[in-house]
Amino acid sequence: MDQAVIDKLNEILKHEWTGVAQYSQAGFVVSGLWREVYSDMFLDAAKESFGHAKIVGQKISALGGVPTIERNQVKQTDDLYEMLTNGLEFESKAVQLYQEVLSMVDGKNRPLVVLLEEILLEEQEGVDEFTMILKDPSVAAQAKGGSASKAG
Ligand SMILES: [Fe+2]
Repeated sequence: MDQAVIDKLNEILKHEWTGVAQYSQAGFVVSGLWREVYSDMFLDAAKESFGHAKIVGQKISALGGVPTIERNQVKQTDDLYEMLTNGLEFESKAVQLYQEVLSMVDGKNRPLVVLLEEILLEEQEGVDEFTMILKDPSVAAQAKGGSASKAG
């Protein structure tokens, strides 16, 4: 298998590990009345990222590569609006990465295309979901009063 494909899959795995940490932390710290809704939603998103990491990591191994244990910088915040916009940004980047690797393997490895397309659909669902939530005026109103985010 092409080393460039393995490298791109590792870039994706790194992104998924970032999602595991970023969404988990959001689920741990989200507070206020809406914690009841969003804590589980973020923790489910962390589980989805781990599920994707598992599939991609196993595939990297099967292709003869070494699955990365690295992750990118996590965006930390205690502000719900920022958590949601971070989520939208994360899912959009995932859609972009899976499309990039798909363009590399399309027409060359049908099973890998099918595997990646299934994940791509879930990433797009994430984009759609966060986009819909962010349309809520009460969520958007928080954009004005939100606290500064901390990089970490
Ligand atoms: Fe994912």
